[in-house]
Amino acid sequence: MRLLITAGPTREHIDPVRFLSNCSTGKMGFAIAEAAIAAGHEVELIAGPVSIKPPAKANYTPVVSACDMLAAVMKYLPIVDAVIMTAAVADWRPAEQAQDKLKKHTMEPVIKLVPNPDILSEIKKVKTNQLVIGFAAETRNALEYAKDKLERKGLDMIVANDVSLPGAGFAVDTNIVSFVTQKNIEHLPLMSKQEIGCEIIRRLEEMSR
Ligand code: CTP
Repeated sequence: MRLLITAGPTREHIDPVRFLSNCSTGKMGFAIAEAAIAAGHEVELIAGPVSIKPPAKANYTPVVSACDMLAAVMKYLPIVDAVIMTAAVADWRPAEQAQDKLKKHTMEPVIKLVPNPDILSEIKKVKTNQLVIGFAAETRNALEYAKDKLERKGLDMIVANDVSLPGAGFAVDTNIVSFVTQKNIEHLPLMSKQEIGCEIIRRLEEMSR
């Protein structure tokens, strides 16, 4: 299969030196990309700014903002069999992005935000027969929110994780996830992100049969 995997945070610039972002490091998405390549799949990997190296065999597209990521996803969507949307896309961006560094004495203490596009919802509008897997990183009611996102974003599966649990979430090498589909909820124990990557690829292969 040819897979499109997104990873990392997005960065929404206020000016050339300041931005809004989140704690994602890209580790989970890159681990999925590695697992996919090891299983013989081709990978289009689109990631926001991260400090880790992408797998050598992935076709890598680095991006900065949610809008950049949407454009890259739409470019590759027609030529892939499945999408795994691991990226922690910023929900909002500053309404205006200054071309020059803002100066303290002229800067407003309030930043006006506008909503970013929801990439999975945009995929839902135009996709043909691609399988789509999303992620739900939550700090409470993880399964409830994940089921709602599965429906709303038209997903085949969502990987739910409670990022407040020890050993789970951002910047660590392990995670605790549940696989939620229309028919089933499967809880996995604490595992390395590599192992979870392999489990996700295995589920994707089963779904594509
Ligand atoms: N996602 C997306 N586009 C966005 C925001 C999120 O495609 N603008 C994707 C993420 O990559 C993830 C899924 O949607 O696969 C769920 O992301 P999450 O941030 O948990 O959900 P939101 O829809 O942003 O909802 P909330 O922030 O209210 O939890």
